[in-house]
Amino acid sequence: MTDPRLDLVVVGLGYVGLPLLARAHETGMSTAGFDISGEVVAGLNAGRSHVADVPDSAVTDMVATGFRATNEPSVIADADTVVLCVPTGLTDGAPDLSSVRAAARAVGENLRPNTLVVLESTSYPGTTEDVVRPILESGSGLRAGEDFHLAYSPERIDPGNPQFGVRNTPKVVAGVTPLCAKYGVAFYGRFIDTLVVSRGTREAEMAKLLENTYRYVNIALVNEVALFCDRIGIDVWDVLHCAGTKPFGYAPFQPGPGVGGHCIPVDPVYLHSAAEGAGFAFRTLAAAREVNERMSEHVVSRAQQLLRDSGAPVDGAKVLLLGVSYKPDIADIRETPAVPVAAGLLRAGAEVAYHDPHVPGFEVVGRPLNRVEHLDEGLREADVAIVLQDHSCYDPVRLVASRCLLLDTRGKLAGENVQHL
Ligand SMILES: NC(=O)c1ccc[n+]([C@@H]2O[C@H](COP(=O)([O-])OP(=O)(O)OC[C@H]3O[C@@H](n4cnc5c(N)ncnc54)[C@H](O)[C@@H]3O)[C@@H](O)[C@H]2O)c1
Repeated sequence: MTDPRLDLVVVGLGYVGLPLLARAHETGMSTAGFDISGEVVAGLNAGRSHVADVPDSAVTDMVATGFRATNEPSVIADADTVVLCVPTGLTDGAPDLSSVRAAARAVGENLRPNTLVVLESTSYPGTTEDVVRPILESGSGLRAGEDFHLAYSPERIDPGNPQFGVRNTPKVVAGVTPLCAKYGVAFYGRFIDTLVVSRGTREAEMAKLLENTYRYVNIALVNEVALFCDRIGIDVWDVLHCAGTKPFGYAPFQPGPGVGGHCIPVDPVYLHSAAEGAGFAFRTLAAAREVNERMSEHVVSRAQQLLRDSGAPVDGAKVLLLGVSYKPDIADIRETPAVPVAAGLLRAGAEVAYHDPHVPGFEVVGRPLNRVEHLDEGLREADVAIVLQDHSCYDPVRLVASRCLLLDTRGKLAGENVQHL
């Protein structure tokens, strides 16, 4: 007996693909997932989620009601809709579309007429039409907009956000033809509240890059304001608090030890590369990058200064990093600024350990850092502790009461033993 048709096959079952599948599945769609990782596939089929926003119980329910994950790309041939959620990272500092190309090849080789194919991965304008479309067409012998439908819909998922998830985050949808856009809207309209139809796939691709570059550039601005305030001896956190009370025309951003994650530090590189290809000098991007990348060095030099001021030699000093993931209360360490901070401290001769309840192991330049299990004990032993991440487990009163010298890069602590960024 052959498999029945599936409403949806998602290609790439990570932070983006799995929540999308879970949402579609809970609305009654028949679903399957294709991933090249054996570990991901085995885990999901055993009812285990590797994405914090999707609980194990949701995966168990999905499996019990017909979902399956597979390493076998032929599952794509059973799908009415195929959504690509594969990584678009950097290799040697440049955009790397190899996963998108590989996923498109797998789809092309298994594509049936009338299927809707949607790319959700973040990339520069032209990726859907100039990269994905020719691979799909040559693999299948079918024509986009005629024999199958092709759309782009950038993912906006915010891991760990309790307020906005797949259903209630408005989603931009674009087709390579108006009819493709209609198919895209019909698909996402089944499980997402608000859809925004863009003029074309390039506009939708650019909108996603703008959203994340907006954050990147504004974070650079407050980072530079923090450096300036440090130079002239004023309290940047008070400045930010005051400015943040303006009810219009000002969106608050926070300074910190650098910008992490799979998106915010990466997507501007895609924009930069597209600009370069067009012979366009994107000056705000270059300036923002320079400032953001300097922040980890600033944290290291502040920590060194604190140690010197306290009379402890930096060489051999015990430094404890508090929170090494790239954002609060999640385990994701991709592009985390904790890496350059730890690397700088190690280069200076410090002994670096970390505490993070979400991150079981943390390696820096090939060296696993010692993980402190008990926060109070770690604080007792450290010469200085650097609050890198604002995890909710870090109770300010408890940290300050430890009497450990604290460098707070998040502006949350107050006390005689606390220095701010
Ligand atoms: N994580 C986020 O918060 C977020 C938010 C918005 C947009 N995005 C974008 O979404 C895309 C996916 O990101 P993610 O965070 O879900 O990545 P991820 O690394 O969590 O997951 C990607 C999955 O794709 C699989 N994969 C890789 N190549 C494949 C292939 N050729 N065929 C099948 N599976 C393959 C990997 O094994 C992995 O399981 C990226 O373009 C990213 O920029 C991510």
